[in-house]
Amino acid sequence: MANKVSFHVNGEICSVECPENLTLLSYLREQLGLVGSKNGCNQGHCGSCTVIIDGKAALACSVKVAKLAGSKVETIENLSAEEKLHPLQEAFMKMGAVQCGFCTPGMIMAAKALLDQNLRPTDEEIKEALRHNFCRCTGYAAIVRAVKLAAAMMRGGDEIDLVSINKEQAAGPENSSIGSSPLKKDARLKVTGSPIYAGDMQIDEMLHGKLLLSRYPSAKIKKIDPSKAYAAEGVVMVLTAAQIPGRKGFGLLNPHQPVLAEDRVRYIGEPLAVVIAESEETAASALDLIDVDYEILPGVYSAEEGLLADAPQLHPGGNLVHQVSVQRGDTGQAFARADVIVEGEYTTPMVEHAYLEPEAALAQTDENGVVTVWTASQGSYAFREMIAATLNIPQEKVRVIYTPAGGAFGGKEEPTVQIHCALGAFMTGRPVKMVLSRRESIIMSTKRHAARMFYRHGATADGRIIAMEARVILDAGAYESLSKPVIFRAGIITAGPYDIPNVKTDSIGVYTNHPPAGAFRGFGTTQVAFGSEQQVDRLARALGIDPFELRRINGLAPGKTTITGQLIGKDCGYQQALAAVEQSLQQTLKYLPVPKKGKKIGVGIAGAYKNVGLGAGKVDQAGARIEIDWQGRLQLKVGAIDMGQGSDTALAQIAAAETGLLYEDFEVISNDTALTPEGGVTTASRQTYISGQAVCEAAAEFKKSFHRSLTECFNLHSGDFRPVSGGIEIKTGKSAAQSFLSFREIVAAADKAGLALMGESVYTAPETFSLRESADHEEGLPLHLYNVHFAYCYAAQVAIVEVDENSGEVEVLKIIAAQDLGKAIHYQNSCCQVEGGVLMGLGYGLREELQLEEGLVVSDNLLKLKVPMIKDSPQMEIFLVE
Ligand code: FES
Ligand code: FES
Repeated sequence: MANKVSFHVNGEICSVECPENLTLLSYLREQLGLVGSKNGCNQGHCGSCTVIIDGKAALACSVKVAKLAGSKVETIENLSAEEKLHPLQEAFMKMGAVQCGFCTPGMIMAAKALLDQNLRPTDEEIKEALRHNFCRCTGYAAIVRAVKLAAAMMRGGDEIDLVSINKEQAAGPENSSIGSSPLKKDARLKVTGSPIYAGDMQIDEMLHGKLLLSRYPSAKIKKIDPSKAYAAEGVVMVLTAAQIPGRKGFGLLNPHQPVLAEDRVRYIGEPLAVVIAESEETAASALDLIDVDYEILPGVYSAEEGLLADAPQLHPGGNLVHQVSVQRGDTGQAFARADVIVEGEYTTPMVEHAYLEPEAALAQTDENGVVTVWTASQGSYAFREMIAATLNIPQEKVRVIYTPAGGAFGGKEEPTVQIHCALGAFMTGRPVKMVLSRRESIIMSTKRHAARMFYRHGATADGRIIAMEARVILDAGAYESLSKPVIFRAGIITAGPYDIPNVKTDSIGVYTNHPPAGAFRGFGTTQVAFGSEQQVDRLARALGIDPFELRRINGLAPGKTTITGQLIGKDCGYQQALAAVEQSLQQTLKYLPVPKKGKKIGVGIAGAYKNVGLGAGKVDQAGARIEIDWQGRLQLKVGAIDMGQGSDTALAQIAAAETGLLYEDFEVISNDTALTPEGGVTTASRQTYISGQAVCEAAAEFKKSFHRSLTECFNLHSGDFRPVSGGIEIKTGKSAAQSFLSFREIVAAADKAGLALMGESVYTAPETFSLRESADHEEGLPLHLYNVHFAYCYAAQVAIVEVDENSGEVEVLKIIAAQDLGKAIHYQNSCCQVEGGVLMGLGYGLREELQLEEGLVVSDNLLKLKVPMIKDSPQMEIFLVE
């Protein structure tokens, strides 16, 4: 039944005839085009849709338009007029509170509702006001700092107390040199709620696609009959595997995962059909009309089960995905002379990335048959290959344009809706948009591998760890995805950042009827860090040695060797990271609070290390190009993808530093297969290093061509000019004709003179080598052949926790984290990245889990996943070891 309601949105009267169930979020986004309010869950769990209604923060997805008569609604679009931003928007940019940006408009609106009432909020009041707003990227610390800064700005007149909100971390446009913290390139678009995400996009004549996902984790498909769905009004097409023109499988490394399942399903979220319809609602309701005849098959619901001889076999080659073994020295002999031996078994759960932006894509086919797909991913080129193969068209006929990712963390390396969306546009000839619901996203996308780890360590009384044996079994889920390299990392990093001379490890991945496991921040190293660090603590207790001291004795340092035989160079900062957190802990211990009744305070220390780059003998390359277009825009084109981690910003800083031009002038174009060089997948902590080096080289070449153009066309030499916004300012007396030359004038003159004005490079990372069967250095064999990776990063952290003696409940009071990251390009963002990683680790360690029961996903929303909210964010102290 339709109701007529009148209310105000951003001061404009809206009179609507609406059905009772129309939500304010749908109305704002779909009917008013106000897409600044984001849809992260549509279930009232994430706060990304927060607006202000009659002065109070409200979740637009939970408010029915029919109940809004006479109300005043304010959205993020109301906050900024022309160039002037609201202080909250300014503060979020300055404090680095914007990463992927998907939570940002909702955060700002919730904070505005608070500051409209209270300009002197305490941290607790800020946390209370933002308690419904989920952020996966920042760890919330920068958000609290930003709200405090905004309050100070809004109080005006007052001295802005930047010290208490961390002065060193306040960004500004004035300095963009390497190591400084200029405003991030994408921050303004994100704080204003601009329509930058794929789910925000609209095209005329656009259709909508929805996926039919499997109801069972393990079943034979005897029949799929889409005829009733096809006949439904508004349905344009129903696609099943039979209609796929090309390759029927996809996968970054092994294209064996069905685009649409044909004869068998292996996990609960596996897609079987796509319904393309005039509206999303029509497509969704037509899914129920598809008749699928399943025959339920026995399944495999743990990795250990999958290894049993009589286990159901998921794939023709069996259930073993991959095994990586590391062998160094002689563990038998070493354990025999150890003074203490400790053994332990540890498990870590499967977890969901829970990026706030659910997967989305928009695809369109043009008159030349080129299929263009706008989507967030971690590698447009890889997606182009997979889409072209499925459509059976040349890759040149597919263009993938990167739209900002509202978080990814490894989870957007594999496609979800993108191939289906392209298929829909290709088959119907009309644009098609697909957006996953939160539940669909959780059950369909890749996960972090669950692990079971068995460790045995032996040490001598003086604290030297002399032997380690380990067996790590990883649940790879139903398809391969990136399991092989994850299994590899878990294998080579099994010992953590320690030099242990006698080692025997096996890292094994097994297929199960769970969602496919793939890349996730840390990529196999997080699981083994959990196991190996507890072993080090147990050794410390058994030996009666301080846990810091034990880590110092055995920790990697220049001249020491990893368990794979790689000699560590002077770039290793593990010992410095340990020293930084230990020193800070000594200070913190002086001011420890008295534990509450029935609780005790505990302190924990852990170390970790992880590879940078692909390694293992793979060619690791990225390209960069710098040029000025005809309109005088200075463009940096890179293959790296900025999913909130800030690569656009860091790469622009490098370009500015190397060319001598202004950071603000660089427009970064990343990962458009028609415009940018290839940069490989944004994974393995590789882009700042590899694309960064490519930018350095391209910038050096560009600088030469720029100076040559100025000399030959304008008789200007270095020292005669300085960079200013949009071009160069010519020093007095160096040119009779003018004092300013725009980029447009310079490029036009260079072109007329036949001079190339651009710089381009493809950088190849230092060579790496496959893992050797034995890590023992063979006489006569050069040591660099043991370099499995060209670089590693190191970390040490201290946690101060309060534990309830009865329930065992843990509250984290403070985390001190030190990170060796090479050189911080954007200092503030590097710190904020660590804060975000810390909270994600806290969730992983204490509460998050993708709960599965016989292959069914139980925790199918953000609440059930127990992702950390702002109240779970402890005090954090971050040190960068450079
Ligand atoms: Fe409204 Fe998540 S979209 S709370
Ligand atoms: Fe908050 Fe990404 S910046 S979810």
